Amino acid sequence: MQRHQYDVVIVGAGGAGMRAALESSKRTRTAVLTKLYPTRSHTGAAQGGMCAALANVEEDNWEWHTFDTVKGGDFLVDQDAAEVMCREAVDAVLDLEKMGLPFNRTAEGKIDQRFFGGHTRNHGEAVVRRSCFAADRTGHMILQTLYQQCIKQNVEFFNEFYVLDLLMVAGKATGVVAYELATGELHIFSAKSIVFASGGFGKVFRTTSNAHTLTGDGMGIVWRKGLPLEDMEFFQFHPTGLAGLGVLLSEAARGEGGILRNKDNERFMERYAPTVKDLAPRDMVARAMANEVREGRGCGPDGAYVMLDLTHLEPAHIDAKLPDITEFARTYLGVEPYTEQIPVFPTAHYAMGGIPTNIRGEALANNTDVIPGLYAAGEVACVSVHGANRLGTNSLLDINVFGRRAGIAAAEYAETADFEELPDAPETFVVDLIEGMRTATGEERVAAIRADLQATMDINAQVYRTEGSLKQALTDIEALKLRFANVAVQDKGKRFNTDLLEAVELGFLLDLAEVLVVSALARKESRGGHFREDYDKRDDVNFMRHTMAYRSIDAEGNVNIRLDYKPVVQTRYKPMERKY
Ligand code: FUM
Repeated sequence: MQRHQYDVVIVGAGGAGMRAALESSKRTRTAVLTKLYPTRSHTGAAQGGMCAALANVEEDNWEWHTFDTVKGGDFLVDQDAAEVMCREAVDAVLDLEKMGLPFNRTAEGKIDQRFFGGHTRNHGEAVVRRSCFAADRTGHMILQTLYQQCIKQNVEFFNEFYVLDLLMVAGKATGVVAYELATGELHIFSAKSIVFASGGFGKVFRTTSNAHTLTGDGMGIVWRKGLPLEDMEFFQFHPTGLAGLGVLLSEAARGEGGILRNKDNERFMERYAPTVKDLAPRDMVARAMANEVREGRGCGPDGAYVMLDLTHLEPAHIDAKLPDITEFARTYLGVEPYTEQIPVFPTAHYAMGGIPTNIRGEALANNTDVIPGLYAAGEVACVSVHGANRLGTNSLLDINVFGRRAGIAAAEYAETADFEELPDAPETFVVDLIEGMRTATGEERVAAIRADLQATMDINAQVYRTEGSLKQALTDIEALKLRFANVAVQDKGKRFNTDLLEAVELGFLLDLAEVLVVSALARKESRGGHFREDYDKRDDVNFMRHTMAYRSIDAEGNVNIRLDYKPVVQTRYKPMERKY
């Protein structure tokens, strides 16, 4: 076992982690621990853009952006946080430009901007061009740019290090325990500040745009420490996943003029969102698509999807603005987007909930108290700028604004704090976890349990939910947890044992799916990405509040989930009907 000491340890090398590292490493010794090679992080899969009211191509301002974010999030957004994000968006884009990010340009050489769902001019009058982009590879470019800057600044990376435990002493975060994939060795990192930036947990669903690695490790680790998770019932389904596969086809396709059509070739979004049509927020478009299919207007042999139509766009325009996603359609479905419509259906895309933080990125132990030394940013966190439904392109913005803020706050704390003593035998929990898995002789297989988890979540906790479907999901998850106790891995070795780590990741997925479903059962209303057919209206009187879920263990050793609530921060916008 090796021991290390750093002022700041960052867990995750996606956009949020590397943006945090760029700040903290200016003033403190910083290490980034990542289970992937940094440029393979999931930020690289983000396609369509990062929004900011630059007003480069038409009138815009950050207050309109804030309003759209709050309304898009169905008024569950903490408005102070949204104001910070939208105000700082302009500098966040310009910072990336100065770092060398190759944004698309207008004829005059300014950063070009395009339409995206829910982004409007003057509080909903019409759609506005707010998304800054690098073709349909914006996340990829952000990841490469931030990585280059981190290398230039000598940030220390520990690649393919899986963080599996958070060390805490007297309520303070003091370090982490990591498993090195190449050797199977454990590493203890002592740190004054720890920043979780480890991404989401989309692999609880089968049909998802998320990579195989999106297993919610950061959320799972803090959950097992008894720390809260916020708003976990709100999971976003992106309207345009490749049908049957879930691979993301950027909303930029509709931003560039693409149209959704049903089997009658009808532009059906005109019925659901007459003003902005195909550029309504994602929750509304995803539900409209699912509804077309349910009411028999779906396409294909089983009527199971709708079509994305780009055939009226010039091929040169498609090639310049949407090269990757059109290639995906050719490669995975054998469809030629110049001349054929593309089969699409909603795909699980983004967790609005996560580790609760304030606007400095400080993680919270409850509704108000900060956990000294612990920070979170990006999809793993819930600073609640997305509320019940995130607007497209606000995620690349979130990771830059709050990654930067978390890095600054973590460094400031580390400059004044002392290293704390670590607990005795800090590796014990991880040794028990890993060796328990490695030596288990049970009958069950990781892949089979994961497939069953994803199947029940796809059927029962999707775009439409009911008490019955959620109870079924919960019953299934409980049964799967019993099966998981009897799981065995095939690879008993130490080197590159991904079999073993997938078992650990499945444990996190099962925990997080349960929190999602329990939180969703208790929310007896419909808001944003959480639509209950049995409570199909938003209920501001009883539910305009954040869900705070806590794990507790009773006297018999049973794990329970306790729910509490936290008020939404409202500054200037009163809840209103969400018409588009
Ligand atoms: O559709 C997209 O390009 C995805 C963007 C996002 O999730 O923000």
